[in-house]
Parts: sequence; C-alpha cells; structure tokens
Amino acid sequence: MSGHGSPIPMTSRPCGPLRGEAPVPGDKSISHRSLIFGALCVGETRITGLLEGEDVLDTAKAMRAFGATVTDHGGGEWSVQGVGVGGFAEPEGVIDCGNSGTGVRLIMGAMATSPITATFTGDASLNGRPMGRVTDPLSLFGTQAVGRAGGRLPMTIVGAAEPVPVRYEVPVPSAQVKSAVLLAGLNAPGQTVVIEKEATRDHTERMLQGFGANLTVEDTDEGRVITLDGQPELTPQTIVVPRDPSSAAFPVCAALIVPGSNVLVPNIGLNPTRAGLFTTLKEMGADLEFENMREEGGEPVADLRACFSPDLKGITVPPERAASMIDEYPVLSVVAAFADGVTDMPGVKELRVKESDRIDAMAKGLRAAGVQVDEGQDWWKVTGLGHGNVPGGTTVASVLDHRIAMSFLVLGMATQKPVTVDDASPIATSFPVFESLMARLGSQIVRVNS
Ligand code: S3P
Repeated sequence: MSGHGSPIPMTSRPCGPLRGEAPVPGDKSISHRSLIFGALCVGETRITGLLEGEDVLDTAKAMRAFGATVTDHGGGEWSVQGVGVGGFAEPEGVIDCGNSGTGVRLIMGAMATSPITATFTGDASLNGRPMGRVTDPLSLFGTQAVGRAGGRLPMTIVGAAEPVPVRYEVPVPSAQVKSAVLLAGLNAPGQTVVIEKEATRDHTERMLQGFGANLTVEDTDEGRVITLDGQPELTPQTIVVPRDPSSAAFPVCAALIVPGSNVLVPNIGLNPTRAGLFTTLKEMGADLEFENMREEGGEPVADLRACFSPDLKGITVPPERAASMIDEYPVLSVVAAFADGVTDMPGVKELRVKESDRIDAMAKGLRAAGVQVDEGQDWWKVTGLGHGNVPGGTTVASVLDHRIAMSFLVLGMATQKPVTVDDASPIATSFPVFESLMARLGSQIVRVNS
C-alpha cells in the first residue's frame, strides 16, 4: 500500500517528442463501483478492464470481507458473486481502504443501512481526510459513527437496523457523498432523494440504473434531484470499464508541452461530468482531437489524439466547470506553466481536501521550479512562462498523492532542468503502469539510485 513501503524517488528529465499509443488503465470511479454494485446483486457480475491499482484492489478486499466472492481471472477480467442488497455480512477485521476516499466513503454508504458494524482505516493521507461529510447524512438513516477528532478515520460505523429513507441536499460538490447516500438508500424502505446544486460525476446514477434500480434524475430550480426507490433487487451485469480520462490527462498534457509530440489515447471515457479538462485545454489552444466517438456500456467513449501545442495561452477556468475536472487541476497547473499569460482557477476549495491539499502541494513544487503561483482558500493562479522557459531543477514532495507525483513528473519532461519527486510510490494507487507507459512514449523518467 502506498505510503507504507519505502519511498520511491524518481527523476523526470527533459525529453524528446512523445509518440505512440497510450492505453491508460480502466476508470477508477467505475472500477470501484463495479465491485461494490456487483457485491450488492445476487448472482455473478463480470467486469472487463478493471483498474488493478491499489485503491481498487483495496475495495475488492473489502467486498470479500463483507461476504462477496471476488475473483481475479487475469488480464483485467474479474467477477463478483454478490450477496444482494442488505446481504452484507459483518467483517471480522478492520477494513483498510489504503489511500482511497472513494473506496471508504462508498463502502460506508453501502453498509450503513445493514444491521452490522465495521471499522475503517486507511493510510496517513486517508486518515487525515474529513468523513463527517458522509457520516452526517448517514446518521439521518439511523446509522451511528464513532471516529477520531474532526470526523477522521479510523472510524467505526454501526449500521441502522431499521433504516428510514432520507431526503438530503449535498452541501459540497461531491460524487462520493452523493453516492454514499444513494448506496445507503438502497437498503432503506421508501424513496431516498439526493439533491445536488452542482452536477458531479454521475457514474453511480448511470450504473444503478444499469443494475436495475428504479432511479430518476430531474433538473429543477433546486438542482439535480435524484430519486431512488429503496430495497430493489439488483441484477448482475457485464461491465466493460472505459479507460480513465483522469489517467489519460497525464500523457495528454505531457504531449501538449513536449515539442514534436503526437500521442493517441484509445477508448477513453468521455462522460461529460468528467471531461472538463479537455474543454479547458482546447480553450487554451491545445491541439486535441476526438476520433471515433461512440457509446459503450452507457458511457460515451472516444480515442483522443494530443499533439504538441506551441501557442498555449492562459485562461480563466469557469468555476462551474470545476466538478467535471476536479482531479485534473494539478496537471492543468503544469500545462499552465508552459502557456503565455495567467491561468486563473477559481471555485476550487475541494482541492484542499483531496489525497493532499492539492493547491498547496502544486504551488510549493511549481514555485520551487521557478513558476509564480498565487493562491487563496478557494482559488489559485499560475503565471505561465511559455514553452522552453520553465526552469525546473528541483526536488518536490508528492505528499502521498498519486496525482501530485504524476503532475511533477510531467513537468520535468519539458523544464530546462530535471524535476525529482521524493516519492512516486503513490502512483500505484491509480496508474500502476505509468512508468512503463510513459517510457514507451519516450519519457526520460528514472528511479533515483537505480
Ligand atoms: C470520485 C469523486 C471525486 C473525485 C475522486 C473520485 C468518485 O471526489 O475527486 O477522485 O469516484 O466518486 P469527491 O466526491 O470528493 O469530489
């Protein structure tokens, strides 16, 4: 598990053109949900293209602990023999979700309305993240939670023996909170209603409908109103997980800033609630083309070609777009360093409670690499230096955050001097083949002292 082994420092050196195909791994959000929803069906769910990163493997382990049979058939093929809605068994040991906020928050929701008790923990990053945003709405179902100060893990959840349905307006833009409430609502009688003012990724809604739940979504003046009928019988599915647009962001952004690059990412998921980065990059002048647009398994999918983009310019990213690219701001800030002018990123306070405080982590590293970054509680600005002008030549901290580690390794591909990341081991949580995939494209990333 990341952060538990020895650190793996890596140096990224300025490199020649990146070229070729970048088959990034399966979508992390959809992979977690495939395992959890599969565990909530009676019968066998088959999954192809599952992300075999540490986060998802921790969720697979957790589903086994709650009584499901999860089998790895090799090559990204998995199956889940589920126990049905309300069928979770009480786990014998502590559920360790490693680095994964999605894993722990969705699983807490999934067990919250069953008469069982479970204790959750994680690594130092996860144990520092707020869980009250999930346990507050779960308490409305009758669930109890006891954790450390500030609603932190380790935490014990006592499921509601006689849950009541809930109507809940999500106070922060969070798909994890929305999903936890919907998953808890599955085993409550009657209708559970979740209202979100800003749309967040909608994989839970799409997939629950695919699994046969009676779930409707209405756009109203109040926001997106999601209504779920409780205690459905979910039907096992065959799921093909699209490639993760949040992982694709790294080779795509690298291609934009390394002269002469031309990279194709096949089969990436382009759900509009996830695709904000690509709209933003186009507005900055990026040479991006979507080829072969199609629909697969209820999700829009395409092949994405990214080429070196000599004339990137800074823009203001509309705050209403933030939720659709929330995981991509770190690598966007790297592209912004190579643009001309200022890239202004308002309305992003959620970035401060991710695997790390991502504004702080990126600001520190970019400044050390010679880039001006200004920040406030819910905004930040990067003043671009233009291609060829970013100094680099520094060592930065990844602070147990996979996306921070990968962003700085992308930075070092186009700076004047190399960039070293103190610990690249967290990359294994979401993109275990990052090093080999980037090397095949032409990056010069080396393990320090190897
Ligand atoms: C996720 C939701 C987002 C995102 C995370 C995955 C999900 O978190 O940052 O990587 O799969 O639901 P929040 O719900 O905290 O915004």
